[in-house]
Amino acid sequence: MFFKIRNGIVLYLHTTTQQHNNNKMNILILGSGGREHAFTKKLSESTKINKLFVAPGNAGTNEIATNLTLSPTNFPEVKKAVLQHNINMVVVGPEAPLVEGVHDYFLADEELKNIPVIGPKKDGALLEGSKDFSKQFMIKHNIPTAKYQSFTSATLNEGKSFLETLEPPFVLKADGLAAGKGVLILNDLEEAKSELEEMLSNQKFGEASSTVVIEEFLKGIELSVFVLTDGKNYKILPSAKDYKRIGEGDTGLNTGGMGAISPVPFATDDFLQKVEELVVKPTINGLQKDGIDYRGFIFIGLMNDNGNPSVVEYNVRMGDPETEVVLPRIQSDLVDLFEGVANRNLHEKSYEVTPQTATTVMLVSGGYPEAYEKGKEITGFNAVEDSIVFHAGTTIKEGKVVTNGGRVMAITSFGDSIEEALEKSYKSIDKISFDKINYRKDIGFDLV
Ligand code: AMP
Ligand code: GLY
Repeated sequence: MFFKIRNGIVLYLHTTTQQHNNNKMNILILGSGGREHAFTKKLSESTKINKLFVAPGNAGTNEIATNLTLSPTNFPEVKKAVLQHNINMVVVGPEAPLVEGVHDYFLADEELKNIPVIGPKKDGALLEGSKDFSKQFMIKHNIPTAKYQSFTSATLNEGKSFLETLEPPFVLKADGLAAGKGVLILNDLEEAKSELEEMLSNQKFGEASSTVVIEEFLKGIELSVFVLTDGKNYKILPSAKDYKRIGEGDTGLNTGGMGAISPVPFATDDFLQKVEELVVKPTINGLQKDGIDYRGFIFIGLMNDNGNPSVVEYNVRMGDPETEVVLPRIQSDLVDLFEGVANRNLHEKSYEVTPQTATTVMLVSGGYPEAYEKGKEITGFNAVEDSIVFHAGTTIKEGKVVTNGGRVMAITSFGDSIEEALEKSYKSIDKISFDKINYRKDIGFDLV
């Protein structure tokens, strides 16, 4: 029971959120990747859990939770599952349901409105859903980021002229969600102009590129910092670095991520202090000033240029595979932290992180990120002892665990050093096999 004052009238409310404090909870996690398996595992370790559900999940989540066959962007289906299984909290893994307004859908529904959703509403999700919005937000709140201008097909010629004022390489970004493919970095001015035209006039990335952000190229080394916020209070989660390219030495096509390391050795206390003062605080304050009630994760992609942080992008969710190294390092109860987000008392929650290093190496299907086959039987992963096996693109077919996506499993290990943790991950990988298995053998190569 708690009360709330509205227009001078004291309302006594008995909300579902309140009930959680006494009772164990049923939590639904939306998504199906390694990130969601990592969430499921961490939540399953909480004493506050009654039942865990994952929609749609994978073969790994199925072992520790109940998978539900439904799409996270089909909100009426999500509602049905929430009511059927007496769900008390929903944790959103990927960006699509957030950008499409799953949190707003809950708030607008009489039966769902008291069930907390961990993840921002549509207004906050624009930080990832629109590059133009996120750039405007950063400029408005004085958050360090690359200079930019935005263009549409009506201002194509101005866009070409703007490119002429910049030094190569040229950075072109589709405004909307483009499945991680909407950013082009080009060395040649003429190529940049013609790609701009492709994006604006010929819809190279569909609707997503009807507005294009052109920005200055940032030098430096990239890393990510994650924040969990209740809209006012925040916890800065462990930093991580991921390896996005398919090929060793960071070559070849971009992927969702081939491995990750946490903490990041070059993210010194001094640097992280700057990130907190120059980026995290102005971001949280900016959201409040703009009337955006943001409850969930903020993934801040940063460039470290000689010790100075600059924001490359915001995402409104955790990273994958970064989650597979960030969450295992968090020693506190994740349900308790999520209750802090829901009840806006995150500052009262205990939050501890192991100083140990975590590394993860992603096993992928041969061919990924281009065409690849599915349905290959995966063996040996049950024999892994020194690492945590997070399933990503896996499913169960005829009683066997088989591949079901490009990124198949993330193998996470701990160590006192990056080398020690990686050695364990690679030894564990030696036990695992499936047809056309591929992985990078050089995760962390630039850090050791
Ligand atoms: P984004 O989707 O904005 O994170 O961009 C994808 C990737 O492109 C980033 O992870 C960076 O590696 C790179 N990138 C994006 N913007 C810039 C920039 N302004 N300067 C240098 N690299 C960038
Ligand atoms: N690994 C990068 C991402 O999740 O966006």
